[in-house]
Amino acid sequence: MTTRNWAEPYKIKMVELIKMTSREDRLNAIREAGYNTFLLRSEDVYIDLLTDSGVGAMSDRQWAGMMMGDEAYAGSRNFYRLRDTVKEYYSYEYTVPCHQGRGAENILSQCLIKPGEYVPGNMYFTTTRLHQELAGATFVDVIIDEAHDAESDHPFKGNVDFDKLDTLVAEVGAERIPYVCMATCVNMAGGQPISMANLKQLRAWCDKHGIMLVHDMTRVAENAHFIQRREDGYRDKSIKEIVYEICSLTDAATMSSKKDAMVNIGGFLAMNDAKFYEKACSLVVVYEGLHTYGGMAGRDMEALAIGITESVQDDHIHARVGQVQYLGRRLRESGIPIVNPIGGHAVFLNATKMLPDIPQEQFPAQALAAALYVESGVRSMERGIVSAGRDKETGENHKPKLELVRLTIPRRVYTQAHMDVTVDAVREVVRRRDEIKGLRFTYEPAMLRFFQARFEQIG
Ligand code: F0G
Repeated sequence: MTTRNWAEPYKIKMVELIKMTSREDRLNAIREAGYNTFLLRSEDVYIDLLTDSGVGAMSDRQWAGMMMGDEAYAGSRNFYRLRDTVKEYYSYEYTVPCHQGRGAENILSQCLIKPGEYVPGNMYFTTTRLHQELAGATFVDVIIDEAHDAESDHPFKGNVDFDKLDTLVAEVGAERIPYVCMATCVNMAGGQPISMANLKQLRAWCDKHGIMLVHDMTRVAENAHFIQRREDGYRDKSIKEIVYEICSLTDAATMSSKKDAMVNIGGFLAMNDAKFYEKACSLVVVYEGLHTYGGMAGRDMEALAIGITESVQDDHIHARVGQVQYLGRRLRESGIPIVNPIGGHAVFLNATKMLPDIPQEQFPAQALAAALYVESGVRSMERGIVSAGRDKETGENHKPKLELVRLTIPRRVYTQAHMDVTVDAVREVVRRRDEIKGLRFTYEPAMLRFFQARFEQIG
């Protein structure tokens, strides 16, 4: 049987020029940035795979929507369009716009958490956990063990382990668990999905214990793709139907719409409970803005509403995840150790395996990301011990089993040729890996240290 080639379901109407720099320029730039790719200037970057957040290409329809902004302080028509779209596509009754995902996490955590409580989740996310901790809670990881094993090819590494949840209830009591935080396509595990079966079981578990189920829906459409491909009974369902089903199994959601929904800025908190909505409205005015804009311009809410409708198109999501799979497969074929299975938004390089001589305390993934930049101008992100931060009680470094570099693919931005150049760059870094040195902090911020930390090379 012959396989047919496929292509992106769009054509390019406008381009942004990028330029390749010299190795010497990049060496200077990374030194100036303290070996932290977050501190590089974007104009010094050739192919930017730092994140998939806020960097997607909006469609002509979304740009047209920007012209339809109703910038009234209160009751903008774009808010109502957004609210109705969230209800139609994601099932949630009430929407509170926020400037981005962490704005929604702040409101959520303040509304639902009392000091001394515990929030279980299918792996942590940096900002999500910090907001839980700032509200006085302790995060408890209840993801299946396979998620912490880069080699395991479990098809649903985002699944929840019910023994871990039961243990937590036995230890602290259900009344001290305000909600379970369930992410779709778990970022820190490598963009790994949760199955619908596991989610249904989680719904039943939450009902049994009278605990709310909150959805970090940042990458829900990508999760739906994996359910469609891998789970019995979903092959003939559309992405739109699967997304709706996922959302309707949960009580509330935080959304960073800078990812799935392809806008440059924005997010929301959504829920079904009227009392919770009322409380969120009273807090959003303190931190974000009035409840009908929450830190977003009217035009941005319009672009977001349109982005939501585009994000659940089967053609779109298959091309989007397909591009990530292409990059991952090519790296794997070149013998590069990556997290398996290949995720939905990024390919994660296994830095532990690529740099076995650099101990985790010397930040191998951070060093690898810096080396990849110097080699090629490709910008990536550390997702290992630096991102994991310190234990809030003991002050010790969290030591995650996954010491990774994330090559994150923006939506609708780069071509297959950019993926090929990236593969060549990673291969070249591997060839020269003996030149890579460990790092130590010269500046370590107290919170979310990975964003602004600075390092120097050891030896
Ligand atoms: N939840 C998840 C799963 C995320 O990936 C992010 C952001 C957030 C919440 C917070 O949203 O950035 O809009 O405030 N992730 C970005 C990334 C930063 O690069 O992975 P935000």
